[in-house]
Amino acid sequence: MSQYSNFNLSSELPAWKRLESVYEQVGKTLKVKDEFAHDPERFAKFSETFKNFDGLEILFDFSKNIINDEVKKDLVALAKEAGVEHLRDEMFKGSKINETEDRAVYHVALRNRKLKEMKVDGENTAPEVDSVLKHMKEFSDDIRSGKWTGFTGKAITDVVNIGIGGSDLGPVMVTEALKAYSKEGLNVHFVSNIDGTHLAETLKGLSQETTLFLIASKTFTTAETTTNANSAKAWFLEKAQQDDIAKHFAALSTNAEQVAKFGIDTKNMFGFESWVGGRYSVWSAIGLSVAIYIGFDNFNDFLKGAEAFDEHFTSTPLEHNVAVLGGLLSVWYNNFFGAQTHLVAPFDQYMHRFPAYLQQLSMESNGKSVTRGNSFTNYQTGTILFGEPATNAQHSFFQLVHQGTKLIPADFILAAQSHNPIENNLHQRMLASNFFAQSEALMVGKDENQVQKEGATGGLVPHKVFSGNRPTTSILAQKITPAALGALIAYYEHVTFVEGAIWNINSFDQWGVELGKVLAKAIGKELDESGDVSDHDPSTNGLINQFKKWSS
Ligand SMILES: *[C@@H]1O[C@H](CO)[C@@H](O)[C@H](O)[C@H]1NC(C)=O
Repeated sequence: MSQYSNFNLSSELPAWKRLESVYEQVGKTLKVKDEFAHDPERFAKFSETFKNFDGLEILFDFSKNIINDEVKKDLVALAKEAGVEHLRDEMFKGSKINETEDRAVYHVALRNRKLKEMKVDGENTAPEVDSVLKHMKEFSDDIRSGKWTGFTGKAITDVVNIGIGGSDLGPVMVTEALKAYSKEGLNVHFVSNIDGTHLAETLKGLSQETTLFLIASKTFTTAETTTNANSAKAWFLEKAQQDDIAKHFAALSTNAEQVAKFGIDTKNMFGFESWVGGRYSVWSAIGLSVAIYIGFDNFNDFLKGAEAFDEHFTSTPLEHNVAVLGGLLSVWYNNFFGAQTHLVAPFDQYMHRFPAYLQQLSMESNGKSVTRGNSFTNYQTGTILFGEPATNAQHSFFQLVHQGTKLIPADFILAAQSHNPIENNLHQRMLASNFFAQSEALMVGKDENQVQKEGATGGLVPHKVFSGNRPTTSILAQKITPAALGALIAYYEHVTFVEGAIWNINSFDQWGVELGKVLAKAIGKELDESGDVSDHDPSTNGLINQFKKWSS
């Protein structure tokens, strides 16, 4: 048994067992459309409004989900029995809930802008977090104002962040989502892939004199990142001297020794603690590219928006706690309806990398099959999260969502106010009309009668039928400000947390990424040598030997 849960398999909890029969008796046949017909309060009852620190709100409408009062009551009971509140409180107390490595999970302390006391190992984290943020403010102010100059005295025009995984996905997504807050003449670029194409294509058109590299790797040993950083340094030294490196490279890392060895002035090193996991690190020094791109004040608002959402998560009763409800719905569909996937479609072009970001957050966290009590689960865990911005997504894979054989619970996200209200806001009204229409269509569907009334006959009829009753959660923000985006990310972080707590898995490690890394290292050596290999399975041997022939 684990110290952080008083059960092993959640399928043995009384509420889980009750939900199995509730699914059979109610869930399986519940028609959301009919529920609306006989419950005029349904929309009010199953929607919640989150108010951010700046007064702007986000409406979470859960009412188009396949639930009723009874289901909701039993789901909330499941959260209680699974100890979601207890684990949440332990996380916010800095307890070592990342048990496989005995570490705290404390990204919430990175957005503690009220500077409350938040301790790990008896030490308050607030002063150190605040001091790194002050350093980030100074540095980003200097870059943005042009006070910071390169080796020929010119201001920086291009910032290249080199990092992978959590050191890339967060900054990429946030800088894209908040592009409206950027300033002209200062661009950000991201190089993550070990594929040389990524670096080579990024550097085309950049000048050594005006480019600043941020090397983002906690340990400064990540293979892809150090290789890309060394190649970037070689490119830089084509025009500059070794001594100039300090003006063009900064590190987001904690390994001072390796950072100094690389040639970076450790004054320009931004650290973070061992309690910051990669996929939760956009709030830390890893967010430096964001602070440079949108300015520190906006970055600070981004943190404050997440902090406000944390307050919602820690203080709102479970019945009205949007992250708890989001997580419970996910469990409801995954474990009782057998859904395998979850679609997130932002109706927002700036948020086009949001689903990619959530893929890591959700799937790296909850793609586990062993409980905190060290036994294999006998139920499904991590959902397959996917998505694309709409309306594009409607013209690609929505066919399957509407008429396919799979149940795909979906979240749709829209802001009421556009940053680009062109043509008298015509585009935004068209975008919004699709946002409303898609969730309506998925719920109400279209039956045979109606299809026939519209003139279809014979064999065509079944092709035009929409079964409906396909669940969606609509998330409607007033505007995607830095604070709103911070809150939305925190929403999904805590949804992921709630799912993991109920499945009783450790959402915070990622042992599953290790094996491939180790094998790649060994194979890398074999590729450096000439001659055939024979020490793998026949398929791997055959592929390696063919590659050697074709690449030389
Ligand atoms: C949990 O521990 C693992 C294994 O050391 C580490 O890689 C991961 O970043 C930690 N997670 C968090 C959220 O700190």
